[in-house]
Amino acid sequence: MREIKNLELVAELKTIAAKKLDFAVIGGSGFQTLDEVEKLGQLDVANPFGAAVRLTVLRYQQHSFVFLPRHGSDHSVAPHSINYRANIWALKAAGIEQVLAFNAVGGIRADLAPGSVCIPDQIIDYSHGREATFFDGEHYPLDHIDLTEPLRGPLYHRLAAVQENNFATPLCYGCSQGPRLETAAEIRRMQRDGVDVVGMTLMPEAALARELGIDYCSLALVVNWAAGLTENDISMDDIYRELVHCKATSLRLLWRLLSQLACKIS
Ligand code: HPA
Repeated sequence: MREIKNLELVAELKTIAAKKLDFAVIGGSGFQTLDEVEKLGQLDVANPFGAAVRLTVLRYQQHSFVFLPRHGSDHSVAPHSINYRANIWALKAAGIEQVLAFNAVGGIRADLAPGSVCIPDQIIDYSHGREATFFDGEHYPLDHIDLTEPLRGPLYHRLAAVQENNFATPLCYGCSQGPRLETAAEIRRMQRDGVDVVGMTLMPEAALARELGIDYCSLALVVNWAAGLTENDISMDDIYRELVHCKATSLRLLWRLLSQLACKIS
C-alpha cells in the first residue's frame, strides 16, 4: 500500500519544475495562494477518495516546491470538510516525501501570544467524525502505525534549526473540530490536558502523512488568544490582522528552510 507513487505524475511534476520534486507545503488559513512566488504550473491528481486534488508548482528564487492550500484556493472548505485523505494520497502519489504544514492556531500557553510562530511536537486530537485513516479495511487492509512522535521527523529538526524564536518543546497542539471556536471551559480542559495551542486542521492530516511514510511537520501561527483567556470576544478582524504578520514570519522561515533542502533548480 505504501508504494502508491505514480511514476507518470512524478515525471509530469519534474517536467513542470525542471527538477524532481519531493517537498510540499500545505497552506492553511491565510495561505490560499502564495503570491510572493512564481507559479510554474499545476497538476490535478485523481485519487480514490474524491475530487481530483490540484497541486501547484511554485518557484522561489532557485527553489521549486509543490503547494496545496487545504481550504481550497478560495478558502471555502471548512476544517471538518477537508478531504485530508485525498490531499495526502495525491501528494504521495506525486512523489512527495516531505511536507511542511502551516496551521493557524489560538495561543493557550502564556508565552505563545498572537504574532508568535511555533513548532508543535505533540498532538491531542479532539476532532471527531473525520475520515482519519487509509487503513480502514476498505481501501487498504487494516494496519496500526506508531505515532508516539507525530511530528518530530528530519524536517522538524531542519525547521527548528531555522526558527527565530526558541519556543521550547514540548509544545502540544490540540485539534478541535471547528469551524466554531471553543468555549472557555473547553480551553480550560485543554489547559489541564497540557495543550499549548489550539487549531482545527492538524489531524488527521499528520496521522495520514505518517501512514504513507511522509516526513511531516507543522509551523503553527498564533493568531489569537484562545477562548476565555482575554476579556474580549475573539474577532475575525483581529485574527486576519495577526495572520498577515505571522505569514510574513512563516514565509521567511520557509525561504530559509528551502535553502537547506534539495529542491534547488540545477
Ligand atoms: N481555536 C481553534 N482554531 C483556531 C483558533 C482558535 O482559537 N485560532 C485559529 N485557529
